[in-house]
Amino acid sequence: MAFSYKTAVPWGRSFDEYRRMFRLSDDDIKLRILGCADGPASFNATLSRNGGSVVSCDPLYDCTAAQIEERIAETYETVIGQTRANQDKFVWETIKSVEELGETRLAAMRDFLKDYETGKSEGRYVTAEAPVLPFKSHSFDLALCSHFLFLYSANFSLEFHQQAIAELFRVAKEVRIFPILDYNAEVSPHLAPILTQLKRAGCEATLETVPYEFQRGGNQMLRIRSKRAQKSRYVNSILELADLHKILQEKLTNCICVAYMILHGGCICCHFEDTENGTVFDITSWYADWTLYQNGGMITNSEVGEAAWLEIPMGKRVTRWECQGAADLTIEFEEKWELQITPWKSSTPEERTSDVWTISNAEPQSTNRFVSVSAEGVITMQNSTRMERTD
Ligand SMILES: C[S@@+](CC[C@H](N)C(=O)[O-])C[C@H]1O[C@@H](n2cnc3c(N)ncnc32)[C@H](O)[C@@H]1O
Repeated sequence: MAFSYKTAVPWGRSFDEYRRMFRLSDDDIKLRILGCADGPASFNATLSRNGGSVVSCDPLYDCTAAQIEERIAETYETVIGQTRANQDKFVWETIKSVEELGETRLAAMRDFLKDYETGKSEGRYVTAEAPVLPFKSHSFDLALCSHFLFLYSANFSLEFHQQAIAELFRVAKEVRIFPILDYNAEVSPHLAPILTQLKRAGCEATLETVPYEFQRGGNQMLRIRSKRAQKSRYVNSILELADLHKILQEKLTNCICVAYMILHGGCICCHFEDTENGTVFDITSWYADWTLYQNGGMITNSEVGEAAWLEIPMGKRVTRWECQGAADLTIEFEEKWELQITPWKSSTPEERTSDVWTISNAEPQSTNRFVSVSAEGVITMQNSTRMERTD
């Protein structure tokens, strides 16, 4: 659904509501925060006044303050009228009436408008439209998304949600989304597949009850963190994509493959560096599906909680990729190569075993339990392989 300011319905919540919707602690509000789809909420204005670090992004910020103010005036009565017609869908405890709701929202939006032009010149309000955000990876500690994802499930597809969440997770270490309900106060149909996908990708995705409920039954946020990020300072971004094959071809062809690792328990990781633009990629099989990590650095064996792994330094340019879903991974290199494969039997290099295997595409059809090389010199890593410990 393309964004159009002429059809936008600006409606903004306050800092206090954000604190409760996302259960933001005193420590949380000291983090570098991104507010995605913040619209005319006053979260940024209030937090910035109090010394916080926050950037809001929304396609609405393409407009001037005067245009947003005009749109608020044009749409206010309609929104209030819709709320009045659906009063039973809301909890009238903190906010006691439709009139009080209108006053609360207007106060927040006026606060936003006062701050908007200054904040824009300071780079605190950035025009951007999910699922593509104009921020470098890991620019933020925490990304918040209030009343956009899940709420508009009827307008935005599952794929859009997957891409938007992957993008938020690329730019921030942690993502919180509120609510998980759609416009009809039903749990979003996108939630279950997204939870499955996030868990499969190794993320910690939890539904947490928060001290805020206005939409009836809407008192849960989705909180997403990387399990591996908690263990490693390197891996804190994840990009899981529906069509990984396409992405791999686009991003990884012509990258230098600097290492393979085959991790204990059947998990395989390949590490790549795009020397032209300095981007680093890891592709990892977490038992079934392939996952692409961008700028995530090296994954170490400690992150899978098991000891044995193999490292294969390559330094060769990749010319072809084949990888789909849970299928095996095939990689073709432009040059001849020979690999020394060293199985590691514990988490530290010092505890390396003395076993070394050599495989090479100069020596076709060499095979071991994990990697085989065809007569054409194509290497195939078997995703289904279960590595056994060598000790
Ligand atoms: C209901 S408002 C929520 C505003 C604010 N987050 C709050 O809770 O008060 C939804 C916001 O989503 C924004 N939006 C629409 N499409 C978007 C997109 N593709 N990416 C980011 N924001 C978008 C709209 O401009 C609007 O400001």
